[in-house]
Amino acid sequence: MQWVKILSGKDEALKRIKPGTTQLLVVHEQRICLARIENEFFAIEDKCSHNGESLSKGKTNYVGEVVCPWHGYRFNLRTGRESGERSRDLETYPVKVDESGFYIGL
Ligand code: FES
Repeated sequence: MQWVKILSGKDEALKRIKPGTTQLLVVHEQRICLARIENEFFAIEDKCSHNGESLSKGKTNYVGEVVCPWHGYRFNLRTGRESGERSRDLETYPVKVDESGFYIGL
């Protein structure tokens, strides 16, 4: 696994990504949905496994899932599991923050 620095640190992440929202990242040609729940960040494959919509256009919910804006499938941000087991689970990526920056593991 390779850690890729995407932001200068947690302060920048907190400023750029509001609670309950998502943002698209393209890192090494991979589309990743970065999501924030309270002050915690999660990274998950961006392409919905149902029909390919971008999850970074969706929202998070109170149980820690990202909700696809097209047909409402829900994916657990920690495990990538689709809540209704109707489509394949998504890949998740570790996130780490230290004094040198904010990183995603690929
Ligand atoms: S494309 Fe995501 S739920 Fe259908």
